[in-house]
Amino acid sequence: MIKDKIILITGATSGIGLALCKYLLENNCKVIAVGRDEDKIENLKSAKFLFVKLDLNDFSQYNTIFEEALNGEKLDGFVHCAGIEETMPITLYTPENIQKIFNINVFSGIELLRFFSKKKYSNDGSSVVFISSVMGELGQPGKIGYCSTKAAILGLVKSSALELAKRKFRVNAISPGVVNTPMTQKLFSQIDQDNIQRIKNMHPLDIGQVEDVIPLLVFLLSDNSRWITGQNIKIDGGYSIQ
Ligand SMILES: NC(=O)c1ccc[n+]([C@@H]2O[C@H](COP(=O)([O-])OP(=O)(O)OC[C@H]3O[C@@H](n4cnc5c(N)ncnc54)[C@H](OP(=O)(O)O)[C@@H]3O)[C@@H](O)[C@H]2O)c1
Repeated sequence: MIKDKIILITGATSGIGLALCKYLLENNCKVIAVGRDEDKIENLKSAKFLFVKLDLNDFSQYNTIFEEALNGEKLDGFVHCAGIEETMPITLYTPENIQKIFNINVFSGIELLRFFSKKKYSNDGSSVVFISSVMGELGQPGKIGYCSTKAAILGLVKSSALELAKRKFRVNAISPGVVNTPMTQKLFSQIDQDNIQRIKNMHPLDIGQVEDVIPLLVFLLSDNSRWITGQNIKIDGGYSIQ
């Protein structure tokens, strides 16, 4: 289904991004992986796995991914898995808080897409996937920052899909419901069992595992999705149909 592609992945050190790296490496793809915590990917290191240790808040360093790590090769895909989540009442939100969450969830993705869209760094027919969330369309109290970043992704995906169609790029979003990753485990550690059960009950097919999400990402990265662009594909165990 997918092989011999070169894919750039942010959030490669954890959860969905890490699982995607593992899948692509097992299927003969080359991965340029961006993250901060190198310890988490120690066992993946190989000729086909290049790790770029980078805090995505440091926008001025992004050129190292394309100029140094890529080393003259061209990418076929980019998946922006890096993301941060927070729960905070509106009274505590400051412009700095909003800036912080937008920097990682949205602005870093746009800046990487700017580099990626250059002919010298990517092949025509490339595929780009942003991870939004069911929270991109549905609200939840205390999630103004997170919800607005995930909604912003839906707008940038449609705009860039149109703009980059001239290079036969596809740009899509996926919107997962709750998936069992370190992000979710952190959230669950902060709430009581009743609330955890309530969240699980909101997913008719239960909450997801990373393995449930990877096939959709792989499909979108593969040539089989060559006529799909500008879409937001929900993958949420039925969460959003209620
Ligand atoms: N899990 C869910 O239930 C769920 C549901 C819907 C959507 N999503 C979205 O799916 C994506 C992946 O989520 P996940 O659950 O896999 O999250 P996760 O396990 O918490 O992983 C988050 C990733 O983002 C990276 N990251 C965060 N801040 C960074 C920074 N400043 N610089 C560089 N990298 C940074 C982390 O890198 P380090 O490890 O190096 O810090 C990590 O690799 C996120 O966009 C999330 O919003 C998740």
